[in-house]
Amino acid sequence: MSNCIEIRGLSKTYKNNKQLIEALKPIDLDIAQGEIFGLLGPNGAGKTTMIKLMLGIIAPTSGSCHILGEDISSLKAKELIGYLPENHRFPLYLSGQQMLEFYGNLGGLSGKTLSTRIDEVLEFVNMTEWRKLKIQRYSKGMMQRIGLAQALLNRPKLLFLDEPTDGIDPVGRMEIRHILEQVRKEGTTIFVNSHLLSEVELITDRVAILRKGVVVKAGNTHELTQSHDTYIITLSAGTPPNTLAGLTHYNAETQEVELVAHTAKALNEAIDALRKHECLLQSVAPKKSTLEEIFIGLMHEKQEHLAPASR
Ligand SMILES: Nc1ncnc2c1ncn2[C@@H]1O[C@H](COP(=O)(O)OP(=O)(O)OP(=O)(O)O)[C@@H](O)[C@H]1O
Ligand SMILES: [Mg+2]
Repeated sequence: MSNCIEIRGLSKTYKNNKQLIEALKPIDLDIAQGEIFGLLGPNGAGKTTMIKLMLGIIAPTSGSCHILGEDISSLKAKELIGYLPENHRFPLYLSGQQMLEFYGNLGGLSGKTLSTRIDEVLEFVNMTEWRKLKIQRYSKGMMQRIGLAQALLNRPKLLFLDEPTDGIDPVGRMEIRHILEQVRKEGTTIFVNSHLLSEVELITDRVAILRKGVVVKAGNTHELTQSHDTYIITLSAGTPPNTLAGLTHYNAETQEVELVAHTAKALNEAIDALRKHECLLQSVAPKKSTLEEIFIGLMHEKQEHLAPASR
């Protein structure tokens, strides 16, 4: 699969009254077409700076960013992008449809082309029913869905979403996840910036975690949350022997045995030992950590202990 985004040595240093703030140290990053990518990091880590650079809103101190081969400073690159800003504010006195007409016109669409496209995007985000209602009467979930419709108007190849599900209830969040899955099926790459880690874990293929302007971890979301050497063995009868190799924890209530096994052989030996000890096994599964646990762990580590993440 070819890349949608190619970032090379991109950095940003702000100058404030002679004081230099290195908001983003030089980073390299590739994002494939059709990927859903999440950018995470604590307050002040450089997330907004990175998005502003990728949207071409601010100029980099060094490096480059290309969207489908187009330099981000070019108009061509901007035509490939859809953007849903955080806390967006559409004119409240307009209906959803009028707002889409307004933004469609700004984006150079008009007449039949625009009205057909508005019908399509409204249907896509499940807002056809509410198109004539004034935006001030929309719920938060509807507001985000109409915002997504706006961001999709020009059929972007790359969609930037800043906190797309903030303040939305679980059902509304599921609806948005479903819409994003559909967007991706059409080949659009999605770049999400969010504080809601459990949400990011559900929707992204890959994440990068920023800290003080440095990518401290990047990788496949599934692989990151899967800890390969720790397993949970659930028993339906029996208790594990204290001498069990690799045993780290036993929860008598849930009958879960947590153990470390570095090879398949070691894991199977532990299973044999349990069965020899009259234990009946119900399941064996690698232990999963949540993105939140990984994130908090990284934030507590000293910066010098963190190897810079590769692309
Ligand atoms: N225009 C600016 N001038 C000077 N410093 C800035 C400017 N914008 C951001 N900074 C500084 O750059 C650093 C990164 O800020 P940025 O807004 O990118 O972080 P963030 O990860 O988006 O944080 P948050 O989660 O709070 O939105 C911070 O130290 C911030 O104070
Ligand atoms: Mg920010």
